[in-house]
Amino acid sequence: MEGKTVILAIESSCDDTSAAVIIDGELMSNVIASQKVHEEYGGVVPELASRAHQQNIVPVVDTALRRAGVDSNQLSAIAFTRGPGLLGSLLVGTSFAKGLALAKNIPLVEVNHLQGHVMAHFVHPSEQYVSQTPSLQGVDIKHPHFPFMCLLVSGGNSQLVRVEDYNKMTIVGQTIDDAAGEAFDKCAKVLGLPYPGGPWIDRLAKQGNPDKYPLAKPHIQGYDYSFSGLKTSFLYTLRDMMRERGVLTIDELASQVPQLKEDMCASLQTTIIDTLLSKLKKATRDMHLTRIAVAGGVSANSALRQAMIDLGKKQQWEVFIPPFSFTTDNAAMIAQAGYYKYLAGDFCPIDAAPYAKTRL
Ligand code: KG4
Repeated sequence: MEGKTVILAIESSCDDTSAAVIIDGELMSNVIASQKVHEEYGGVVPELASRAHQQNIVPVVDTALRRAGVDSNQLSAIAFTRGPGLLGSLLVGTSFAKGLALAKNIPLVEVNHLQGHVMAHFVHPSEQYVSQTPSLQGVDIKHPHFPFMCLLVSGGNSQLVRVEDYNKMTIVGQTIDDAAGEAFDKCAKVLGLPYPGGPWIDRLAKQGNPDKYPLAKPHIQGYDYSFSGLKTSFLYTLRDMMRERGVLTIDELASQVPQLKEDMCASLQTTIIDTLLSKLKKATRDMHLTRIAVAGGVSANSALRQAMIDLGKKQQWEVFIPPFSFTTDNAAMIAQAGYYKYLAGDFCPIDAAPYAKTRL
């Protein structure tokens, strides 16, 4: 490893504990421990998430180092997610990163979680990593040129980010209330679907009619988003149907209304995608950009991916969609962001505290 830049990255912002190793910008390992404990509550329970991170962090880091064939004495730096996210979760990753950096006397690099999601577009998996990852085999990963507009959509975030360079990006619009993923998950919960509901809605929507139940679309100025009204509209549509039929549960309603869940899912999904893409289109046009990208867990949505491709074709814009495994929370994207910051000599002090709220 003499002369090579070896970075260990740690991500613990929500309910996934992840560690990755990159050597000279090439991804060698990316280990993710997801927390099943939240499923029965229908959402992430912050206290349980912190406890699970405590249990997972040592084995996850150990596995990432072993898979990469790296000894902790060979590390050049440690990158970690400093925020935004759940504070208790972030504290576990931050404290671990600080402890290891102090013990090995190497620099610490802080990474903003949102910047990390955007950097998923620049992850460069090594041959070794691809050979161990069937989902990446034969996949041509395209890295966007700068500048581009990135739609960042996850369980906790919905932003439009103008990306000028690896270390230079600006939020041009963002949700003023709920994130898109939250709207998917909460509406899924109302329908009695398991957590997280986004992938379930994606699946059911394929068999539904998107025009069956018109739902409220937000009218927000500029490039910002809002999804709380849509959630209410979804809830009230079901409530009114239940009242009309004199039933008390969603399952009773579903037994009387054919295709209820499929049509509600399709109507919700199409409204969320129309909302997301109308602002993306407006911002990209107004700023005279010709490249659009999507990042974050919701970018796994098959209809959103297709809608991005269609929009790109229509507007003659280049479209960038990262491989599925780098869209949800993972440390590979944090490692990539950390690598560029390391090259720029952008280190962080040992007393850096995590932060919960969005900033870039
Ligand atoms: O980026 P991410 O893994 O983490 C957090 O924000 O914590 O995103 C998770 C979100 C969840 O809301 C989940 O329901 C959503 O991504 N998601 C999807 C799909 N797959 C994951 N939403 C819609 N369609 C999908 N196929």
